[in-house]
Parts: sequence; structure tokens; C-alpha cells
Amino acid sequence: MIEGVRAGIDLDRVRADFPILSRTVNGKPLVYLDNAATAQKPRSVLAALDAYYRDINANVHRGVHELSARATDAYEAARERVRRFLGARSTHEIVFTRNATEGINLVAYTFVKPNLRPGDEVLITAMEHHSNIVPWQIVCEGTGASLKVAPIDDRGELQLDEFERLLTPRTKIAAVTHMSNALGTIVPAGEIVRLAHAHGVPVLIDASQAAYHMRIDVQALDCDFLVATGHKLYGPTGIGVLYGKEARLDAMPPFMGGGDMIASVSFERSTWNVLPYKFEAGTPHIAGAIGLHAALDYIDGIGFDAIAAHERELLDHGTALLESVGGVRLIGTAPNKASILSFVMDGVHPHDIGTVVDREGVAIRTGHHCAQPVMERFGVPATARASLAMYNTREELDALGRALRRVREVFG
Ligand SMILES: Cc1ncc(COP(=O)(O)O)c(C=O)c1O
Repeated sequence: MIEGVRAGIDLDRVRADFPILSRTVNGKPLVYLDNAATAQKPRSVLAALDAYYRDINANVHRGVHELSARATDAYEAARERVRRFLGARSTHEIVFTRNATEGINLVAYTFVKPNLRPGDEVLITAMEHHSNIVPWQIVCEGTGASLKVAPIDDRGELQLDEFERLLTPRTKIAAVTHMSNALGTIVPAGEIVRLAHAHGVPVLIDASQAAYHMRIDVQALDCDFLVATGHKLYGPTGIGVLYGKEARLDAMPPFMGGGDMIASVSFERSTWNVLPYKFEAGTPHIAGAIGLHAALDYIDGIGFDAIAAHERELLDHGTALLESVGGVRLIGTAPNKASILSFVMDGVHPHDIGTVVDREGVAIRTGHHCAQPVMERFGVPATARASLAMYNTREELDALGRALRRVREVFG
């Protein structure tokens, strides 16, 4: 495919790596444009999961027997792979979680909550996913601390001057998305960290969306914490990552108690394991970590330069295409955005859009995208959202365009 080759991606090969992409839905070839919700999995990830359960299934860190040693090696190799992927200094800084949500809750409960006093503040932005809003509300509740929200403009860009104005001596943490799942806006995370640190405020970056579109380097960002979620990185569900600077994690109490996170246990007192195990209570998602390892290998095999160039081309094509459909309004038009086409259509509820295009085999997301405050900001109850990944094609976007014209016909 000329388009793919031009962008440095061999699209035919990439698409062949994802078995689900060759299936049909409602009698039509699947056009999967719901990647911001979860991405599809390449064969290498499926094979890694299968091989783990087939050949080496055993618990980790617990047995001297051969399989346990091999499972432990594979699990720890996955941690090293994540370290390299994020550019962290040490594997002590890489905690496996269930997902990004758990990573944010971990930081909220163990880093922020114990230190919250009346009048303290937690700073987020108006474009956060619910998972970067609700944990902060929960930990603030009953402490007299409050949530502050940096506004976004009509294009969906963060108002950096307002963000800076909201950094005060009472700000205990700034928790900011690197890329909005509802708008596609890319937030200048490095600049956010610089501004916050200048005010002595630690920063958590939610890289759930950004991490599968662009290279993340936690040392260059200098963030204190960063979360990502495996299933959006072409990996399995149920596995996520929390990066934390070692000194920060070291000073924090455990999040959950149980096996593996302890050094010693007696009825009088228990002591905690070293990093990162202090934060990994109970049997972890061993297969998930191994699958994530394969997913990160896959992404790096394609390369972020090629992925970003291809997705940029698709985004431009999709934007022009949506603008050519009568009555469509794009929500989220920041100059620096990636891979998300959120839109509304005059006189048609987003759920009806989703239902009609699904009949054409096109999978998009409709609703508030776990970002109700964003919907409120733009005065809409919901949007329809097409979201792109490395394997999507212009032809698929054209199929979306045809399906939307069909929506126009049905609803007038
Ligand atoms: C920006 C953002 N943050 C956090 C999350 C939460 O991810 P998970 O549900 O995997 O924890 C999502 C998922 O949609 C997201 O898009």
C-alpha cells in the first residue's frame, strides 16, 4: 500500500499481524476505530500468552522449582522491558498494576492522602478521564482538601497560564493527562512538570493514551509518577504500569497488604519488601506482564516515528473527511492533537450514529468517554469518537465517511 509505505509502515504486513482485523461484523469487513478504548492484539502477544500458560505456568518469586524460576525470569524480564520502554533509571521504579486506574489510586492513597490537611489542594485539568478525577475526589473527601481544575479553551487546549496560576503552596500534587481520550489534545507534559516543580509541586502524568502514539521518556519528562495501561498498548487487559521516582516510592507506605509485598510477618508487626515488590501484593498478572513485553517489542519493531507519521496522515484525512459530511462538528481541534476524531452531528444523537455505522461494520465509541466534564465544557451530552491506531487505513476512514452519509440519509 503506497500510503503505508510512504509513512514508513508496511500496512499489509502490520494488518496481517492482527488476526481480528480480518473478521467480519454484521456481514461487513470489520473497521475497528475504537482504539482509544482498547487496541487490538498482534499475533506475537497472543503467542506469548499461549506459550506462558502452555509451557511455564507457575507462580513467581516463590518456588525453587524450574517452572517457577522460569516464570519469575519472564515476569522480571517484562519489568526490564517496561523500564526500557519508559526510559526509567531502574526496575525498582516500575510497579505492575492492573491498569492505569490502579496506578493513580495507588498514588492517591499512599502518596497524597496521608499528607492531606484542610486547605490543601490537588490540581488536575478539565480534560481528565474519570480515573484521574474520582480517586482525587475520594481522597480529598473529609480532609478539608479540595480539587482544583485548570481550564481548557474552545479548541480543547490546556490554558497553561491558568494551570500555573493554580499552583500554590497548598498544591499537594498536579495530576495531568498527557493526551486527552475525549479530544485528542496532546498536553505539553514536560512543560507542565517544569512549571509544577518550579512551585515545588510533584506531578503525576497519565500517559494512558499518549503511550501508544509517542515515545515516553520519564527521565526527560522528569515527572514524579506516570501511569500507563497495557490494553491500549496492544497488550493484554488487566496489566498496567506505575512509574515512580525511586525516592518517592521508597518513602510511600504500601497500598495493599498480602503475599509478596512483605519482608517478614508476625502477628505483632510486619515489614515491607523492597521496591517494587512493596507495591505488588498477591499473585500478579504474570501472563499479562509477559504479554505486555511482547506488545512493547512489537511497537518498537514498527517504531514511533513510523507510527506517528502514519497516524498523522490518517488524522488529517479523517478530519477533512468529517468536515465534508453535512452537519458534523468536531469536538477537539487543538493544533497539537493525535488520533482522535470526536464529533457530533446536527439532529442525530451520538448513540444513533454508533448504531447505524455498526451495521456497516464500523466500530466507533459513543458516549461521554469517561470524561463527562469535557462533554459539559463543550455543551454536549455525548460525542461519537473514531480513534486511530497503527493498523488503520485511509480506506477504513472512507468506510466511516460512507457510513456517516448513510446516517444522514436515515436521520435526514
Ligand atoms: C486518558 C485515560 N486515562 C486513564 C484511562 C483508564 O485506563 P484503564 O481503564 O485501563 O485504567 C483511560 C482509558 O480510557 C484513558 O483514556
